[in-house]
Amino acid sequence: MIDIGIVGGTGYTGTELLRLLAQHPTAKVRVLTSRQEAGKRADSLFPALRGFCDAVFEVPDPARLAQCQAVFFATPHGTAMQMAPALLAQGVKVIDLSADFRLQDPAVYTQWYAHPHTALDALKEAAYGIPELHRDKIAAARLTAGPGCYPTAVQLALAPLLEAGVIETRGIIADCKSGVSGAGREAKIGSLFCEVAESFKAYGVPGHRHLPEIQQGLAWAAQAPVGITFVPHLVPMNRGIHATVYARLKQPGIDLHKLFAERYADEPFVDVLAKGEHPETRGVRGGNVCRLSPHLAPDGETVVVLSVIDNLVKGAAGQAVQCFNLMFGQPETAALQSPGFAP
Ligand SMILES: NC(=O)c1ccc[n+]([C@@H]2O[C@H](COP(=O)([O-])OP(=O)(O)OC[C@H]3O[C@@H](n4cnc5c(N)ncnc54)[C@H](OP(=O)(O)O)[C@@H]3O)[C@@H](O)[C@H]2O)c1
Repeated sequence: MIDIGIVGGTGYTGTELLRLLAQHPTAKVRVLTSRQEAGKRADSLFPALRGFCDAVFEVPDPARLAQCQAVFFATPHGTAMQMAPALLAQGVKVIDLSADFRLQDPAVYTQWYAHPHTALDALKEAAYGIPELHRDKIAAARLTAGPGCYPTAVQLALAPLLEAGVIETRGIIADCKSGVSGAGREAKIGSLFCEVAESFKAYGVPGHRHLPEIQQGLAWAAQAPVGITFVPHLVPMNRGIHATVYARLKQPGIDLHKLFAERYADEPFVDVLAKGEHPETRGVRGGNVCRLSPHLAPDGETVVVLSVIDNLVKGAAGQAVQCFNLMFGQPETAALQSPGFAP
């Protein structure tokens, strides 16, 4: 068994890691941290785990974490960059779900996260954790940066078009909606039921922290800078992201469905719908899947790609387990093959 540590086991992505890893055939969670709930069993806080998880929360202790072979950080930004370098030096592989190792340029990190990056050597070696786009690098990595949820949905929607060079690389629009769990489990007024229910709003129009990450990933796919407007919205649902992405074709006559179906033909976790279908967030709840549907708008020039994921699974914990599997030479689908749940 591969011994696993999770830092931040009481958050939404941390508990989702526990749910998924409970079914992993060759990995077991040995160290699970929470500063606030230290001493409590995880299944006393999260009864869904009863019978599947006997882990007890403990305060984060670098020596205990160093006894694991892999440590997941499901913590706010700034934590993994403090703890990961020592773990890497002791031979522990790290999968960070936060933003600490996503942006390659530390100056861009500081611009968006308002503090300096303190683990520059680790940052240089980090793989960016979307397996469908960076599989070989992840498989060879000691440190993987779990992407943001919006960036996962948007990059998987645009990669086939940018890689094939069939769309203009300026003027792209990503109009995205997220459920409330995207903001984490911490108590915040903006996440209260009465603030969110029966309402719908955009936020972060002048600039959201996922914008530079999306720009970086799209530039890798296009091998050129990409101009994109990204507008996130908050939707009164627990889980789910729906990205509607608009781009202009360079030439008419592209078979969009064929392009997407061929690009993702061998991908177990990207599902291209039949021509003309529309994906729904409820169809991916709990599942490690990105469901995509490319359309040509009636003007014959605009591509509209619909992309849905569960922000906590393909947008966070599931994708992190997918990367863990690659980093440890396990079947990529281990612990990730169950269907989503509905309603
Ligand atoms: N929610 C999503 O949909 C989503 C998707 C993709 C990526 N992410 C990223 O994943 C990370 C976790 O997100 P989340 O939504 O799970 O957050 P969350 O619900 O707020 O949970 C944060 C967890 O981190 C622990 N923690 C907080 N500060 C810590 C510190 N200084 N040292 C050690 N542990 C600390 C907390 O437990 P204690 O305070 O008890 O220690 C808690 O267990 C974030 O960086 C987020 O941006 C989230």
